[in-house]
Amino acid sequence: MNLNNASYVKGVVRLREKPKPSYPEVVVIGRSNVGKSSLINAVLNRKNLAKTSSTPGKTRLINYFHVDHQLYLVDLPGYGYLSKKDSDSKTWDQLLGNFILKNHQLKLVLLLIDSRHPDLQSDAYTITWLRDNHIPFIIILTKCDKLSGNQFKNRQQKINSTFPDIRIIPFSSRTKTGRSDIIGLLEQTASGS
Ligand code: GTP
Ligand code: MG
Repeated sequence: MNLNNASYVKGVVRLREKPKPSYPEVVVIGRSNVGKSSLINAVLNRKNLAKTSSTPGKTRLINYFHVDHQLYLVDLPGYGYLSKKDSDSKTWDQLLGNFILKNHQLKLVLLLIDSRHPDLQSDAYTITWLRDNHIPFIIILTKCDKLSGNQFKNRQQKINSTFPDIRIIPFSSRTKTGRSDIIGLLEQTASGS
């Protein structure tokens, strides 16, 4: 898969607006500001393909990026920000929930969790929700450049002890730690294995 052949396709708010043709989809979710858009840029080696911001709530649409016309990487709005700020947050949560549950092209969810704050209630809720709904997912611990090796191990162990069967990938969009693991996942997904 040629990662240099990637571009923004469109932003949607509901399933029926999804781009054509259909490809397998890897969907990136997590609280606002956790580094979802930065991960997409780091993986695709592009500075500003997905818009990032230090202000939470930058991504407001479900944004589709194609990778080599074989796969879509999908950038979702962060859940924490939307629930707090929007008066119609329920509608948003339902939209995102629906998008995940009813999206037959969805092959894998990357659940991003900030490695500095791994025990937040909203993340635990999401893990349980994904599990209960049998959605395939992997946890990506982001911004691992901000912790020392030992600190990071502690955080990882904490999640591991609560959810021992879930794969966890350490990641940093600054240092590119974990990038090759994620590329491996994208390649597997594109080839259907
Ligand atoms: P929303 O679109 O609001 O949901 O946020 P997001 O999850 O897409 O986060 P985004 O990628 O916009 O990053 C938020 C902030 O975190 C930005 O200021 C990034 O520069 C910073 N950031 C993202 N990834 C990393 C990382 O790996 N290391 C460090 N140190 N900072 C990061
Ligand atoms: Mg974003």
